[in-house]
Amino acid sequence: MTLDPTLADWLSLALRWAHVITGIAWIGASFYFMWLDSHLEPPAVPKKGVEGELWMVHSGGFYVVDKIAVAPEELPKTLHWFKWEAAFTWITGFLLLVVIYYLGSASFMVDPDILDIPKSTAILIGLGALVISWVVYDALYTSALAQKGVWSAVIGIVLLCAISIALTQLLAGRAAYMHVGALIGTIMVANVWMRIIPAQRQLVNARKAGTEPDATLGKRAKQRSVHNNYLTLPVVFVMLSAHYPGTYGHKHNWAILLALFAVGAVIRHWFNLKNARRIAWWPIPAGVALFIAVMIATAPPGGDMAAGGGATAPVTFAEVKEIVDKRCVNCHAAAPTNPDFKTPPKNVRLDNPDQIRRHRDRIWATSVASVAMPIGNSTGMTPEERDMIGAWIRQGAKTE
Ligand code: HEC
Repeated sequence: MTLDPTLADWLSLALRWAHVITGIAWIGASFYFMWLDSHLEPPAVPKKGVEGELWMVHSGGFYVVDKIAVAPEELPKTLHWFKWEAAFTWITGFLLLVVIYYLGSASFMVDPDILDIPKSTAILIGLGALVISWVVYDALYTSALAQKGVWSAVIGIVLLCAISIALTQLLAGRAAYMHVGALIGTIMVANVWMRIIPAQRQLVNARKAGTEPDATLGKRAKQRSVHNNYLTLPVVFVMLSAHYPGTYGHKHNWAILLALFAVGAVIRHWFNLKNARRIAWWPIPAGVALFIAVMIATAPPGGDMAAGGGATAPVTFAEVKEIVDKRCVNCHAAAPTNPDFKTPPKNVRLDNPDQIRRHRDRIWATSVASVAMPIGNSTGMTPEERDMIGAWIRQGAKTE
């Protein structure tokens, strides 16, 4: 089943809008609390049960925060939990996945060059990955293994690599990236709702009942919140990746994904050290160096757009037009003949010479430097055709 493309566009706009706003609220609050924790100072006048205090001024008001050691003796009438931001980020994100990938064109989910499967199978793989990842992750970090410090982290990273590689071998590049992002996001939200909040709740209940809270729940919650912390920047990269066909459209897209995850995690590490008042010199340069290494390693072999005619034989516009007509125009025309699209996607029309010339930079990015277009290679473009278009652009993209 596919949604009407116009309806799908408006639905996806509404959902994406809400998703970004709730995501900012969630991650913003978590950044804020990290910052708060790291800037607390011992109270100027010692107060019973208070381990740190902090003064702030914002929007014309003064605010004082006291951090209570463990839990207060008497609980206030209203206690704010900060959990709905995470829930709504997940709900809007999941619906967006459904609208764009599950109810959209099959070519978003399936790339026959990767694996020729029906869209329904691809959807099952995607949904299965979300559920299984949480089940395995939660079992791993509830088990005794979770206490083994570095080893538990190594196993977690290996599993994340394994699922990322598996998904990029099964689904179209963009869908694979988005599902890795969605499964990490699911783990993060489930951590909040099923591990972190319950631990806090039992702390509150123990306080009310005058009993000792169960320390293992607290320890587990702490570990989960460390995970969420390191996963934040990587997950934000995935959400932006759809704009960068050079990442998900690359033939080694899994390696780029994992390398950029490492960049995100290492930059996050710098912030964490800084919040712990330990300034380390290495994480930022390491992150930047890795980022540049990815950029260099993914450079297309034929050189960049400006490399000049080189050794390739001249390619005529007539040859290019024939390729574009055969591989692109069923979607990128004023009135697409592909039933999944009513209007040309992203308003990119490739049905006349001027438009082809005008879009040459993006044609390069999506179809020469990467294989992001034709989406899911649904029209079966060959590597030779990509090379020819590349040569034509390098030779100056002349239309006569
Ligand atoms: C099956 C339909 C389909 C075919 C065939 C197709 N595209 Fe696309 N194209 C899309 C969709 C859908 C998008 C929007 C993707 C998004 O939402 O980001 C798009 C977006 C684009 C964009 C704008 C995105 C960007 O990153 O700049 C360009 C350029 C493009 N396509 C070029 C091409 C070229 C060149 C071909 C042929 C070699 C082609 N497309 C074949 C469906 C198609």
